[in-house]
Amino acid sequence: MSQEFGASIIGCGGVSSAHAEAYRNLPDQCDLIAVCDPVEANANRLADTFGVETRYADYHDLLADERIDVVSVSVPHFLHAPITIDAAKAGKHVIVEKPMALTVGEANEMIEAARANNVKLTVGSERINPRYRFIHDKVLPEIGEIKSSWLVDFYYRDASYYARGAWRGTWAQEGGGVFVNQAIYTWDQWQDLLGGVDFAYGYWTNILHPEIEVEDIGYGLVHFRSGAIGKCFATSACESPENGQGIRIIGENGEIHTNSAWLYELDFSLKDRNAEADLRKEFEQVIDLNYRGRYQTWQTADFFDAIRANRSPAVTPETAKEALKILNGIHWHGWNHERKFKAWAAAQVELDGLKDAATANTDGWRGGKLVQQLIEFVRSETSTLDAPFL
Ligand SMILES: NC(=O)c1ccc[n+]([C@@H]2O[C@H](COP(=O)([O-])OP(=O)(O)OC[C@H]3O[C@@H](n4cnc5c(N)ncnc54)[C@H](O)[C@@H]3O)[C@@H](O)[C@H]2O)c1
Repeated sequence: MSQEFGASIIGCGGVSSAHAEAYRNLPDQCDLIAVCDPVEANANRLADTFGVETRYADYHDLLADERIDVVSVSVPHFLHAPITIDAAKAGKHVIVEKPMALTVGEANEMIEAARANNVKLTVGSERINPRYRFIHDKVLPEIGEIKSSWLVDFYYRDASYYARGAWRGTWAQEGGGVFVNQAIYTWDQWQDLLGGVDFAYGYWTNILHPEIEVEDIGYGLVHFRSGAIGKCFATSACESPENGQGIRIIGENGEIHTNSAWLYELDFSLKDRNAEADLRKEFEQVIDLNYRGRYQTWQTADFFDAIRANRSPAVTPETAKEALKILNGIHWHGWNHERKFKAWAAAQVELDGLKDAATANTDGWRGGKLVQQLIEFVRSETSTLDAPFL
């Protein structure tokens, strides 16, 4: 039995086993002491699978357990901020799932709570990926001043996905749709590569998911603190057309790019081919590290080390907060224009006959003219956002 860190998990749904596995993979560093879920069957399922004796129904009781040092918070989005703040006040270090919170304001309160109570806080993020780190640390400085950037995300989800939990698809509890749940992964990496966010605005609507309140398609423009400007698009209404998704960060000396989903296969090119070849040799060693599937363990190990060394975790809450500026900026701006955007989108002929998201996918619908136009808007190298429906 390890005496170093007492670990625990609040929220025993879909993603919780990844946290439990990460703790189990670090047996010299921690013991998973307790789990908590008001749904007894969920708490029991996780606890039985991972051999955990203590099960709580109320997270306040878990936070009062003095054996616990570290808490994974894997609950519906609207509970990320209140539970993280309570955990910090109870003196627990927190690994909170993405999105960090629903709003920049909540994220700020979480950061302050961690600071005031002298505990560490990190947020689930793909930025822990060594491939990403290499691109960030070694490639980004080589591509020079950034001229333009775009990010296009497709995450098709049908009605059954939203039926998995009452919190999903609601403004109050999920805090949005495809932006807050899926695109936040890539927005998090994008904003980090481009140096944090100054402000963002954009448009969104719901074209194919009548069963939910929130957006299933939208696009936006982001002013980054570095002075760079980028544009993004995300939808859960269809799969990507061929070569539709991906990212470009175009600098004066080269670019960072991929057409892969979730930015898993970020790559680069440099105008100086010799310099690129040298850098690529190092890059290939990093790619070989076989990170996929071990992400949670890597992030947890980094977090333990951050606590031990009293240093910042690899993903600081301050940087995670930046992605919420994109979310809040596009949502709030888009409220005013949602009806016009929806009417314009519905008038696109390719929407005819598409009654729901299930129809969209089984017909192999790839968004037709509507999506093609929106992708063109975000890929154009202008510093404004086309909006023909205004
Ligand atoms: N499912 C995934 O693949 C995945 C991957 C990465 C991140 N996430 C993120 O993880 C979080 C949870 O997602 P999920 O898919 O596991 O959701 P889920 O709905 O499957 O599980 C959430 C769990 O939280 C529990 N819960 C609700 N209120 C609670 C409370 N007050 N105290 C303790 N537990 C409470 C629910 O009963 C449920 O068991 C979300 O932020 C999500 O975005 C999910």
